[in-house]
Amino acid sequence: MKFNAADLSSMAQRYRATFVNSLSGYKSANLVGTVDAQGRHNLCIVNSVFHLGAHPPLLGMILRPHTVRRDTLENILLKECYTLNHVNQAIVAQAHQTSARYDAEESEFEKTGLTPQPCDVIPAPYVLESKLKLAMKLVEIKPIEINDTQLVIGQIEQVIVEDNAISEDGFVDLQQLDEVAIVGLDGYYTATQIHRYEYAKPDKPPLIKK
Ligand SMILES: Cc1cc2nc3c(=O)[nH]c(=O)nc-3n(C[C@H](O)[C@H](O)[C@H](O)COP(=O)(O)O)c2cc1C
Repeated sequence: MKFNAADLSSMAQRYRATFVNSLSGYKSANLVGTVDAQGRHNLCIVNSVFHLGAHPPLLGMILRPHTVRRDTLENILLKECYTLNHVNQAIVAQAHQTSARYDAEESEFEKTGLTPQPCDVIPAPYVLESKLKLAMKLVEIKPIEINDTQLVIGQIEQVIVEDNAISEDGFVDLQQLDEVAIVGLDGYYTATQIHRYEYAKPDKPPLIKK
């Protein structure tokens, strides 16, 4: 099948959202932990976290337009920090449920049964059940004009990960942590490594890492 721009434009709104959301491929599953001015916990799932740089260690994520109440964005603006907690197979259903529009006074932790874990470097909760957690300090928020979304850039202040998942060269094997990937806004997948490859060079064939 072939779809041109006009075909995308004429799709029914829901169908187009589901279709286009699938096109950016497998994405990571993260729970964003924040607190509000009253110290109440907030948690929501995002699939838009991406690597921005290793030194300083930066991650970006895209948050939806601030045209309605957005607890996560408001808490990040207020406290200038948040946690990112990778989702594993055991907590997929609870992680998905955090996307429901709960009231600001309701904690997604209480509603889903996930457990808040204090973080000793920033005022934001980790998710105890997550096997890879990051404490993030807000660095910059860039409004994306074309669709009113916000690019949130954060610097990693702490990493908590099970030791057995880290290879000698620093590679973190997410498969060991039973992590999941997301397609669109509701498709959850497991991922199996095919190979790791040596650094690609123009004069060498692809070499599988030993
Ligand atoms: C699989 C999945 C991925 C999502 N990814 C994002 C995302 O990257 N950015 C975003 O702003 N919302 C994303 N959402 C929607 C939020 O989880 C949802 O709007 C949530 O209610 C926001 O909570 P808040 O009001 O506490 O900020 C996603 C939802 C699902 C189900």
